[in-house]
Amino acid sequence: MTVRYSDGTRLPTIPDNDPARSGPRGMAVRFHLGEHNHTDIIAQSTKSFPVRTGEEFLEFIHAVTEFGAGRPEAFGSFLATHPNAKRFVETAKPIPTSFAREAFFAVTSFQFTNADGVRRHGQFRIRPEAGTQYLSNEDAAAKSNNFLFDEIGQRLAKEQVKLGVFVQMAEPGDDVADASVTWPDNRTEIPFGTIILTARVDDQVPERRKIIFDPLPRVDGIDSSGDPLTDGRSDIYLLSGRRRRTASGDASRAA
Ligand code: HEM
Repeated sequence: MTVRYSDGTRLPTIPDNDPARSGPRGMAVRFHLGEHNHTDIIAQSTKSFPVRTGEEFLEFIHAVTEFGAGRPEAFGSFLATHPNAKRFVETAKPIPTSFAREAFFAVTSFQFTNADGVRRHGQFRIRPEAGTQYLSNEDAAAKSNNFLFDEIGQRLAKEQVKLGVFVQMAEPGDDVADASVTWPDNRTEIPFGTIILTARVDDQVPERRKIIFDPLPRVDGIDSSGDPLTDGRSDIYLLSGRRRRTASGDASRAA
């Protein structure tokens, strides 16, 4: 299994320790099932996504970009007409003491089919066995820019990290095709397995740099729930990853 942690926002240089720019952190998990055969879970540290569709996400990104350029009006009117995006923006995103003490939510629902052909919908959630632990804004600001990525290496040199994987099950009436809504917290969670992190590996080696995670599971029995984000995302991640591969090729030629 390979896990890639990330800070929120699209900016590779975003500091780990800036409470004012703390977006949802990311955790992407690849299960290596065999040669050229894998399936992934992509999760983030907030329980919902700001919008339901790719088109709305593009509008959201445009409005955020305008905001960043000192023109807040478009963002204000987007939030006024998209209450789930407003809730997402206003949800606290505290900085954890470690990637190993953060909880992650896959946000997208899938249809799970058991051996008897019974189908239920659910969403992956990943939680550290040691529990979550967050910093105050003051304590976060006192950390270094790269403290989360430094810390995970130091921690794994000393100890393994165990993370529980659960599937939160939908009840009739829960919307299984809208990542911008959350289901009530009392929904049953089924233990799915345990991830044990054993070592920090070099993420700059070519075979890891080129990993492109895939939002759609590639195993029998776990299928799309009809969430409109799912299919579009697979194509977009592939496009983005290919651009990244080209860019890193350029960088190594330049070096
Ligand atoms: C229309 C909606 C979305 C778009 C257009 C989008 C786009 C992208 C793109 C372009 C990347 C970079 C992929 C790469 O270069 O390898 C990415 C990465 C990521 N996205 Fe999304 N995303 C969307 C929705 C979501 C949702 C719903 C989640 C919630 C779990 C999510 C979580 C992540 C994470 C954790 C990563 C980092 C994965 C890695 O380590 O490679 N995204 N996204």
